[in-house]
Amino acid sequence: MVDANTLIHESLERAGELCPDLTPKVYEQLFNQHPDLKSKFIMDKNHAVKGEMLSKAFEAIIDLTGAELYARTLIHAEAINHDNNFGITKEVFVTFFPIVRDTVRNVLGGNWTAETDQAWSQLLEKIDGLIRRAGS
Ligand code: HEM
Repeated sequence: MVDANTLIHESLERAGELCPDLTPKVYEQLFNQHPDLKSKFIMDKNHAVKGEMLSKAFEAIIDLTGAELYARTLIHAEAINHDNNFGITKEVFVTFFPIVRDTVRNVLGGNWTAETDQAWSQLLEKIDGLIRRAGS
């Protein structure tokens, strides 16, 4: 049986093959859910910050589902940093990861399986716990 981490890596790889730049899809969903967040990216005219942030989130996901060298610290630190410096509360920060999951699921379509869904749910729970503990 394929383990949960492998399922997540495979889903990301497949999504990357089908859609080489997920940035517009992720942020479309983010701004649909939180229209007020658009103003936070007003200076990001060429979408470089948005792309960079998404790639950091992907790297964090890869680390959390693999070597686990740094992502716990990164997510914890960024949750506090975003709250203090950008006015993005933990409740809003945490929504970024389910949006990434939903985007990958939409891109995969029929290739998204119940096992992949379960693997992502477990990962999101883990991330949720990390963010909840940040700053407390
Ligand atoms: C809804 C969730 C999030 C929102 C609204 C958000 C928003 C922002 C904003 C407004 C900036 C500053 C942009 C600028 O320099 O003009 C920023 C920077 C950054 N974000 Fe996010 N962010 C979110 C989630 C995340 C997540 C999940 C990660 C990674 C795990 C992340 C990593 C970063 C990094 C590395 C920077 C660069 C600057 C720094 O760390 O000080 N962000 N984010």
